Amino acid sequence: MQIDEKDVDAVCGLVLDLCGVYLDSSKSYLIESRLGEIVKRHGCNSYREVVDRVRRTSDLRLKSEIIDAITTNETLFFRDNSPFEAFKHKAFPELLDKKQSSPFPKRVRIWSAATSTGQEAYSLAMSICELLPDADTWDIQILATDISDAAIAKASRGKYTGHDIKRGVSQEYLNRYFKRIGNDWAVDDRIRSMISFKTFNLHDSFASLGQFDMIFCRNVAIYFTPEARKSLFQRLIQNLSTHGYLFVGSAEMLTNVGPEFKPQNHCGSVFYQPNVPKLVS
Ligand SMILES: C[S@@+](CC[C@H](N)C(=O)[O-])C[C@H]1O[C@@H](n2cnc3c(N)ncnc32)[C@H](O)[C@@H]1O
Repeated sequence: MQIDEKDVDAVCGLVLDLCGVYLDSSKSYLIESRLGEIVKRHGCNSYREVVDRVRRTSDLRLKSEIIDAITTNETLFFRDNSPFEAFKHKAFPELLDKKQSSPFPKRVRIWSAATSTGQEAYSLAMSICELLPDADTWDIQILATDISDAAIAKASRGKYTGHDIKRGVSQEYLNRYFKRIGNDWAVDDRIRSMISFKTFNLHDSFASLGQFDMIFCRNVAIYFTPEARKSLFQRLIQNLSTHGYLFVGSAEMLTNVGPEFKPQNHCGSVFYQPNVPKLVS
């Protein structure tokens, strides 16, 4: 399917409106390779026609297909390693210490925002089980969200190919936290039950999600405009408890975002804590 300048503008506008992801005209090859098949399958004569259809009708399936196709779902277990080291050796133990004096010392809420196909959330759950062998007696909930229905469906199945597993899972963790199903590997029920999965757009209100002790929002803000990125982090901090921790991607340093964030360096990684005492925690 041929793509012209007007098609590119129409698709870029739609993608920005649907998921806040900023594409420019240099991305026409990406639009062609990811959306060309959808345009044909829906019997449209141009990319513009598909865009019009999404805008004019409430065809949720088509909208979801476009989001699934256009988003970059690249992820892996223990991505970049150092944030998970900082989580395991610094942030999580420190959080548990702080919680000792709270009314609910065994309750922990974590959000893996833009989790993609779930590897980030499962990596967190495995890290917690390493630290707390009796994790099932704690009240630990990890919320894993992503805008892509297809990514969340895979995350929720908790089933990974040998190729997925090779990308980040050690033999030790494979033996401990996965079981073999045919050619694939399924995450152990103990790990799976710590996580709930939900399709969620980071540009929507976070009001219904509640407060979190830790938020992992990594490698998604890089796709947003500078304004949307700033707004995202400022809204995230509202849902972070006063003793909370925010982990972002290595290319997403929170410079110029505001004084609300206090950077902390540990294990070769940077995470952030709220700087300004809040009334609500
Ligand atoms: C590159 S992946 C990052 C996955 C994981 N956080 C990691 O660091 O490995 C980016 C994810 O952001 C999701 N995404 C893009 N725009 C989003 C939005 N507006 N709301 C929620 N998720 C979004 C995509 O669907 C994709 O799965």
